[in-house]
Amino acid sequence: MGNFLAGKVVAVTGAGRGIGRAVARAAAAEGAKVVVNDYGVSVDGASPTSEVAEAVVKEIEAAGGEAVAVADDISTMAGGQRVVDVALASYGRLDGVVCVAGILRERMLFNMSEEEWDPVLATHLKGTFTVFRAASAVMRRQRSGTLIGFTSGNHQGSVSQANYSAAKGGIISLVRSAALGLHKYGVTANAVAPVARTRMSANVPTELTEIGEPEDVAALVTYLLSGSAAEQGITGQVYTIAGPKIAVWAQPRELRSVYGEGSWTPERIAEVLPGSVGVDPMPMLSQLLAMEAAARAGSRPNAQ
Ligand SMILES: NC(=O)c1ccc[n+]([C@@H]2O[C@H](COP(=O)([O-])OP(=O)(O)OC[C@H]3O[C@@H](n4cnc5c(N)ncnc54)[C@H](O)[C@@H]3O)[C@@H](O)[C@H]2O)c1
Repeated sequence: MGNFLAGKVVAVTGAGRGIGRAVARAAAAEGAKVVVNDYGVSVDGASPTSEVAEAVVKEIEAAGGEAVAVADDISTMAGGQRVVDVALASYGRLDGVVCVAGILRERMLFNMSEEEWDPVLATHLKGTFTVFRAASAVMRRQRSGTLIGFTSGNHQGSVSQANYSAAKGGIISLVRSAALGLHKYGVTANAVAPVARTRMSANVPTELTEIGEPEDVAALVTYLLSGSAAEQGITGQVYTIAGPKIAVWAQPRELRSVYGEGSWTPERIAEVLPGSVGVDPMPMLSQLLAMEAAARAGSRPNAQ
């Protein structure tokens, strides 16, 4: 066991499988006491079971670590609060929360139902809010702590997962808001966009050229939870980890602007906008067009 997180208490949602499980195990191996939350559902969010969270607690204990299971649904306010309450009741403090829980309900936008939209937004975006909300109140009093949200490269857009993409974009804005609102209390917030082999990524229809294991993601999360990252003042950031690659995403900013004289009219905008402000080409659209061309040529498309 290492000691990167010695003395810390960390809660991880979606910690029963895939990336969350690797994060929980790595945090425990680095000395943290861990709250293992998992609702134990299928990839589309059905059939909950408490066995999944309990199994990971047993794995951590067998390896000499300390952990406690919470099998609640973090898409409810009560579920998010319980994750935090169990940390305080079991270990007396809370130094980090990592919101990994997620589900998929894939459908083209023009066919997507409310039953496909709402649970995906509720699990990812509201499920990050419920835990951040409860944890940030504790961390504000403690004057320390780290909040970590899970996003995806798909926050840039997705052909058949508009629900998932919208939720992942929302998580980035939530993380940035947490970073701003909690800065004066010494609390940091960051987001991770992973690419790792799990049951969820097994559903991706294209061949991923850059992919790693859940343990790679866990190493980055462990660092972000540690005192080393806090000392560097790392907050409000989005990091991708895909096997050997770690990348930081740009902060959104205005690219070009033009100022009008007097009030704008549609005619004046039609005259001025194309040649001055213009557009910022969409990388995901270029990639989609390349994939469509590759498919037409009969080769298997690649995606990042
Ligand atoms: N695997 C990848 O390559 C990849 C890529 C981009 C983003 N992500 C994100 O990383 C996170 C983890 O993905 P994964 O691949 O490990 O998926 P996974 O399906 O292996 O694990 C997700 C876990 O979340 C749990 N969960 C679902 N709904 C829950 C709820 N309401 N309350 C508590 N637990 C709940 C599930 O039971 C499951 O154990 C997700 O947020 C996912 O969107 C993964």
